Amino acid sequence: MEKLDSNIVLIGFMGCGKTTVSKGLKRKYGMDIVEMDGIIEEREGKSISDIFKDNGEEYFRNLETDLLKEMQSRKNTIISCGGGTPLREVNVAEMKKNGKVFLLTAKPETILNRVKNSHNRPLLEGNKNVEFIENLLEQRRDKYEACADVVIATDGRSVDDICEEIMDAAKAF
Ligand code: S3P
Repeated sequence: MEKLDSNIVLIGFMGCGKTTVSKGLKRKYGMDIVEMDGIIEEREGKSISDIFKDNGEEYFRNLETDLLKEMQSRKNTIISCGGGTPLREVNVAEMKKNGKVFLLTAKPETILNRVKNSHNRPLLEGNKNVEFIENLLEQRRDKYEACADVVIATDGRSVDDICEEIMDAAKAF
């Protein structure tokens, strides 16, 4: 199987499909996955919700930055970021060093549908409604778009279709 010399960095709001698409890329193209939230949870020995509760958001954000810096030497890897990772400028610089950045997007209604049964997203607990999601998305939109090399809309599409578009674009760089 052909291997990429660089990495695919996936960003996007919670529920835009970063984790699902990473798994699809791994299955279809045999790439490695670095799921940032998962690695942070494993290293800290607790859930994202507990990290936010016990140590605060700033502590979690510092872990994200440290982890991105660690990823420099990898190849043929999908780096699946947390939804808030592109909000810090230093993180954007690290992502750009790590590979090409793909922004996954979805409508607020689609996002709500995808996140409604999960309880490990502290920012959405008690806020699972279209209005809140729309507002937070709007606040973040400029930063997401500024960070992205390619924007991929996910509404109503199959995982396979999205993965193929990403791989075609990654090879074209
Ligand atoms: C966050 C998104 C989450 C996780 C944390 C904060 C955010 O990741 O990193 O709850 O600020 O958008 P997912 O996008 O994988 O849910």
